[in-house]
Amino acid sequence: MNVEAEKRLVGDRAAELVDDGMRVGLGTGSTVAYLLEAIARRHPKALFVATSPATAYAARALGIRVESFDELDELDLAIDGADQIVATGWLVKGGGGAHTREKIVAHAAHRFVVIADSTKMVDQIRPPIPLELSSFGIRATLRHLHPTALRDVAPSPDGGLIADYHGEVVVASDTARWLSSTPGVVEHGLFSPELVSEIIIATGRTVSSTRLEGGS
Ligand code: A5P
Repeated sequence: MNVEAEKRLVGDRAAELVDDGMRVGLGTGSTVAYLLEAIARRHPKALFVATSPATAYAARALGIRVESFDELDELDLAIDGADQIVATGWLVKGGGGAHTREKIVAHAAHRFVVIADSTKMVDQIRPPIPLELSSFGIRATLRHLHPTALRDVAPSPDGGLIADYHGEVVVASDTARWLSSTPGVVEHGLFSPELVSEIIIATGRTVSSTRLEGGS
């Protein structure tokens, strides 16, 4: 079974978690694209917010009504993909540069569910780690974050520059703390296990779900 089929399986499975009346955060990426299709088919009477303009656009094209996230102070559920997943619950996100909004939405959700194909499971986090950086003083920030390179993509919807940290990640929590405490870093793509409630992975035709303690 190929990777696209695995993404479809987990998207279908996660769509079943969405019930009428829920406030739901929709992640970003190619796995979430399958989730959106499955939600559109089921058509629950839920309220949706998107983590990126691309997701908002794709959802609306499928008939899913997406609301602004400015008026809500919490979500019942958020579902998103990931670039790397360690069994302990550490994630790397931001391959699409949407990790700042993705982290805000994950943190606002009582239950944050990660969906992925089998290629995303890793034993050890590897670089690059996506970053969103303030454009003010960008050269100084890049010097402090060496080895980091700006990505040749448009700024985030919030005006931040997308970059990648290419240094080794020996202890994820240490790297996450260092990145968070570096002035100029708007957000980084390391998501700690405390954020994660459940990881749903497809391996071939088998879908497995692991629950963690995380989620607010
Ligand atoms: C977007 O910025 C990312 O965090 C995505 O959620 C992540 O890259 C997973 O994307 P795919 O589902 O396309 O692999």
